[in-house]
Amino acid sequence: MVDLSVNIKEEEKSYPVVIENSEIIDFAEKIFKITSGRNYLAVVSEKIEKLYGKQLKIPQKNKFVLKDGEKEKNFKNYKKILDCAQRMKLTRADMMLAIGGGVVGDMAGFAAATYMRGIDLVQIPTTLLACVDSSVGGKTAIDTDYGKNLVGAFYQPKIVLINPVFLKTLDDRQFKTGMGEVIKYSFIEKSCKCEEDLNLTNFLSEKYQQILNRDTKTLSKLIEICVKLKISVVEKDEKENGLRRILNFGHTYGHAVEKITNYKKYTHGEAVVEGIKFAFNLAVKRNLIDKNYAFLAEDVIKKYNFSPLLKFKPEKMVELMRLDKKAISEKIIFILPVDYSTVEAFELKPDEIFE
Ligand code: GLY
Repeated sequence: MVDLSVNIKEEEKSYPVVIENSEIIDFAEKIFKITSGRNYLAVVSEKIEKLYGKQLKIPQKNKFVLKDGEKEKNFKNYKKILDCAQRMKLTRADMMLAIGGGVVGDMAGFAAATYMRGIDLVQIPTTLLACVDSSVGGKTAIDTDYGKNLVGAFYQPKIVLINPVFLKTLDDRQFKTGMGEVIKYSFIEKSCKCEEDLNLTNFLSEKYQQILNRDTKTLSKLIEICVKLKISVVEKDEKENGLRRILNFGHTYGHAVEKITNYKKYTHGEAVVEGIKFAFNLAVKRNLIDKNYAFLAEDVIKKYNFSPLLKFKPEKMVELMRLDKKAISEKIIFILPVDYSTVEAFELKPDEIFE
């Protein structure tokens, strides 16, 4: 068992992140202990319910099963969760559990943040993306008709419980999308300012077979490295006023790719990796890095079977990137590599992005 902790300035917001590689039946005991003596609502992904519902043993009356897919992250389901909490008469002393991927974590998180002005939240991520990224750091949100994650809150959980055994049954595309975020961490590692030297790029190069075979011990270590990097960033900048922006490496272009293809053709991780490649090309053009580093990055990306995506019209991409909620005025914030595993934020004009 690996016991990490996120230490936010205001002490009452700090929380543990536990990585436990155990059978789901034993893991259920741990969840049982956390909830014991309290009323709670568990928002559970439909897929997890089908595969592990019996082993998790959460009583029907405490469960809200949510269909899978980004399109479920909407106002309608948010309201249904809150209605359910009210029917159950949850009080401020009670809690909400999120058992699933990023969609479940974001929705249950936002419901917990807003129900009675905030009740305790437990994040139990079951996809690689949620384990390495979305369950840690307190971002919660729902999508609106105007865009992704436009309504939300920073709301830190009370505990994050991770078990890589769930990843054994994750479908290949979902596993790959999580790897997109993992690869991102390898290129921003030094900028995360973690005290420990974790050397994720080496780990990804040396252990790629074990990772792709989903060896749970290797995945545990991989998640531990990524979570340590994420914790280091979130502790220094909880609300994305500065350093946390580096976590958006690959995302400015990646979000535009997702939007232009209506969130249907590519997964988030595939779009992010395309964004990372775009950022590396731009950094070479602007003489920020040498070509050898860009080749090395390409090698790592290829190992995890990411192939090139469609090319899109620059004018359209600029328009979409300008609409991104992280954009400021006419300029677009781009995170670019400037050295090995080091990135910096640049404010670029459209003609500096597509020369
Ligand atoms: N996923 C980016 C962040 O948590 O800031």
